[in-house]
Amino acid sequence: MKKIKVNKSLELAGTIRVDGSKNAILPILAATLLSEEECIIHDIPKLKDVEIMCQLLKVLGADIEEIESNTLKITVKNITTCEAPYELISKMRASFLVMGPLLARCGNSKIYMPGGCAIGTRPIDLHLKGFKALGTDIKSENGYVNAKTDKLIGNYIYLDFPSVGATENLIMAAVLAEGETIIENAAEEPEIVDLANFINSMGGNIIGAGTKTIRIKGVKKLHKTEHTVIPDRIEAGTYMVVAAATGGDLLIENIVSSHLQPIIAKLNETGAHIEEYEDKIRVVSNGIIKPVDIKTLPYPGFPTDMQAQFMALLSIADGTSIIHETIFENRFMHANELMRMGVNVKIEGSSAVLTGKSELTGAKVKATDLRAGAALIIAGLIAEGETEITDVYHIERGYADIIGKLQNVGAKIRLEE
Ligand code: UD1
Repeated sequence: MKKIKVNKSLELAGTIRVDGSKNAILPILAATLLSEEECIIHDIPKLKDVEIMCQLLKVLGADIEEIESNTLKITVKNITTCEAPYELISKMRASFLVMGPLLARCGNSKIYMPGGCAIGTRPIDLHLKGFKALGTDIKSENGYVNAKTDKLIGNYIYLDFPSVGATENLIMAAVLAEGETIIENAAEEPEIVDLANFINSMGGNIIGAGTKTIRIKGVKKLHKTEHTVIPDRIEAGTYMVVAAATGGDLLIENIVSSHLQPIIAKLNETGAHIEEYEDKIRVVSNGIIKPVDIKTLPYPGFPTDMQAQFMALLSIADGTSIIHETIFENRFMHANELMRMGVNVKIEGSSAVLTGKSELTGAKVKATDLRAGAALIIAGLIAEGETEITDVYHIERGYADIIGKLQNVGAKIRLEE
């Protein structure tokens, strides 16, 4: 079994380049199903989740060619099946994003109920409610969602919660529907804007992505395109926390600083010094961390995907910090693992109370999900002795070459197969 071993490594210094965004490329890959013509996409991160989505696209009929490193040419001349099998969907929740494009392109889809990170029950009711509003019949049988439509017709859709996945799936269905669709209370994440830019570059007509109201005027057909994926704001944020926690000095390249504002604001409060440049950011810290309170919220609030990493950081703050998780109901599994390393944290419902300053020591711990894994690496960098992290596959789902990138800035970290 693969393990990551981390030893205490303070004052990390150097430059790290961030890859293309995982959460932007996954819906964009699904959206390639919308056109018969070729899509060339640059800056695709080399991640397990991307591999899974590409395998799924191939099953559905896509021709995928790596024309240079991190660049794929994807052509879906014909959809050969509208069934997304259990083996792939159960590996990754985001694979459910092919439902919107399949309905748009062929009028039916059969998709296994999605899997993914074990961070609470993650229903798909908002996706399904939206598809129904666009004129789809939906039946659930033997773990599969069967959907059929004679013709998708634009409609007004109000989302009870600004779900990222539901917003993306419904945009993709609506883009080839007849007439106009309005998605109200839509998610505003930068990844939604990137998806809309990608589809508009193929001839789609989407207005308002990045705001709460998105208007999609259906078009008959989408043509070929070339697109570069936005940088991964969560990967960038993770390395920003690494700099702060280790008392380091890291220059993080390939970022969009407006996407990082919620993270910058909180890191500033912890006492880290931050310099913003056009497409880079420098984080310098003396390792003295002030306690702060955090509440996760939909964008532009503080991202739930940075909550675990901040828990590791705030464990060494002098004083009490409270983290309130409002997006997912069971996203504190990393707290148990961090406790094994000496972190003084108490979970009370949807809040975590950290009483610092904890003295961290290396231990055998398990990555319970992707961001939990990143938090354990950060904790390992500041803990006395050696930390051994298992269930590494979670980390590989979302961080391209995290070991190499951290080694380059001085971290004592290695992968053992
Ligand atoms: C996306 C991100 C994930 C991030 C999350 C929240 C991708 C591939 N993943 O996940 O990294 O943590 O946004 O920022 O982009 N919900 C429902 N019904 C639904 C859909 C969602 O109740 O039909 C609930 C979920 O259970 C959860 C909350 O809404 O509690 C947020 O989910 P959502 O925004 O849909 O997250 P994902 O798109 O799955």
